[in-house]
Amino acid sequence: MAILVTGGAGFIGSNFVLEWFAKGSEPVVVLDKLTYAGNPDNLASLREDERLTFVRGDIGDRPLVASLLAKHQVRAVLNFAAESHVDRSIHGPGEFIQTNVVGTFELLEAVRAYWTALEAGPKEAFRFLHVSTDEVYGSLSDDAPAFTETHQYQPNSPYSASKAASDHLVRAYHHTYGLPVLTTNCSNNYGPYHFPEKLIPLILLNALAGKPLPIYGDGKNVRDWLFVTDHCSAIRRVLEAGRPGETYNVGGRNEMTNLEVVQTLCSILDELRPSQSGRSYWEQVHFVKDRPGHDRRYAIDASLIERELGWLPAETFQSGIRKTVEWYLSHPEWVQGVVSGAYREWVTKQYGS
Ligand code: NAD
Ligand code: TYD
Repeated sequence: MAILVTGGAGFIGSNFVLEWFAKGSEPVVVLDKLTYAGNPDNLASLREDERLTFVRGDIGDRPLVASLLAKHQVRAVLNFAAESHVDRSIHGPGEFIQTNVVGTFELLEAVRAYWTALEAGPKEAFRFLHVSTDEVYGSLSDDAPAFTETHQYQPNSPYSASKAASDHLVRAYHHTYGLPVLTTNCSNNYGPYHFPEKLIPLILLNALAGKPLPIYGDGKNVRDWLFVTDHCSAIRRVLEAGRPGETYNVGGRNEMTNLEVVQTLCSILDELRPSQSGRSYWEQVHFVKDRPGHDRRYAIDASLIERELGWLPAETFQSGIRKTVEWYLSHPEWVQGVVSGAYREWVTKQYGS
């Protein structure tokens, strides 16, 4: 028996796999296409570990998924694989439709065929957990209540629309075929192994490199930040005790404007790694053109998962962001590999072009 983790070389997926082995020893099969966002270095500490099987491949490759499910007697699939960056979805939505919509559909079909043929016991215990985002609910006004699981879907970017479509497919496979699915809709994550195209790692690395810190628009957009290992613990808990067919919102009740996030990062860096110029990193801030269709505010009401499954985050924003800065400062080789593109060279060497 094993679990299949798609997208396990990405930011959240790799944190999930590392945490999984820190807490137990059930084997994991990672299926990852190794796009620009998939970095095998994230799982480097497990390279010699026999509990991990790493397969480079696409969730849209139905025969490949079918063979992995059968070969490893998979008891649960956790679908992290996705194109995940809003700005990229604005420049090129096609890949988002391909992976997030068509890929999820192909994955569901492979899983449905496998699950249908299982014997009663394993069939009953099987789970398909789909990792999704709060962005499917759209944007909130400043005083609107936080998103609950019954909030209507109003995705505004090609990214969130493609994730919304995948959520709908997952839901339909439960209602139509009885597939035991679980969906989590989480707020913005941050922490180790975060690819520096997203706000927090981008600001951190630009600050240290003496580059401008780009803030879109007026910087007053609000996100609800959750430390990545808290997201991982929520997913483990939902997998263990969530009700099939249910959706669980996951969030840390840490609403912050982008300006507040960047201010916090700059002040921790000023303390831990002061700039050689003697100036605060804050002086590197540049306001730039806003993102088209930029959602103003996201906020998650996590009371269902808290009440029903007893999940609570372990980190506050203050503790998590400090851990994040410390991790980036103490892992210059990981940062260097990403910034120089060296990890892509490894991917080409290992897997060909
Ligand atoms: P990421 O972009 O860092 O990682 C995505 C991973 O999926 C990469 O390793 C990539 O190589 C892989 N992948 C992409 N297309 C694939 C395909 N067709 N087949 C197999 N693998 C493929 O993303 P992340 O931030 O780790 O997000 C993981 C999941 O969590 C996504 O589904 C995302 O929508 C969701 N999510 C992210 C956040 C966040 O703040 N990052 C918040 C809530 C939900
Ligand atoms: P991001 O990390 O891309 O996550 P998402 O768009 O999925 O919430 O962006 C977080 C917020 O930071 C969002 O409001 C856009 C803003 N942002 C900037 O102001 N500057 C940047 O360079 C980036 C990447 C994001």
